[in-house]
Amino acid sequence: MKIVLTGFMTAGKTTVAKILADKKNFNFYDSDDLIEAREKMSIEEIFTVKGEDYFREVEKDIIGELLNSDEDLVLSPGGGAVLNDELRQLMLNQAEVFCLDVSAEEVLSRNKNDEIVRPLLEVDNPLGKINSLLTEREKYYQEIPIHFDSERYSAAEIADQILAEIP
Ligand code: S3P
Repeated sequence: MKIVLTGFMTAGKTTVAKILADKKNFNFYDSDDLIEAREKMSIEEIFTVKGEDYFREVEKDIIGELLNSDEDLVLSPGGGAVLNDELRQLMLNQAEVFCLDVSAEEVLSRNKNDEIVRPLLEVDNPLGKINSLLTEREKYYQEIPIHFDSERYSAAEIADQILAEIP
């Protein structure tokens, strides 16, 4: 079985995914970690040196490989992985997919207090950028059938609700 936690940047995908992997005894993967290891560069460097389109290609390849494997796993993809139609369909076909929701204001505050550098939010008006990305991506996140409010529930509560949904 494969479980995929989608959602916007800072929604808590990795935290929930790690709890689930632990409880199910599945391997945990974070696509950004795998991309950094393969490219031997940080996500920030990849965006600066090679550009976002290149990052999206590597992201698609790495997530595709995981989804086509035989392994039981829990995956935390980057928040933009849903943008690619083929990849989004592959996730929905191959995995139990869930989406964590978060408001723009909360993304701004979580991102400020996070050590992870997210190149898309390194701009003069991050709240404006977050709002425009959320609007642009909403239709893709809405294709995911089950959503959880990451501001209302803790990561542990969301993990328990997901465990109740899967066989
Ligand atoms: C991105 C999300 C990031 C990372 C990259 C781009 C996005 O991952 O993949 O900075 O486009 O939403 P997180 O969602 O884990 O922050």
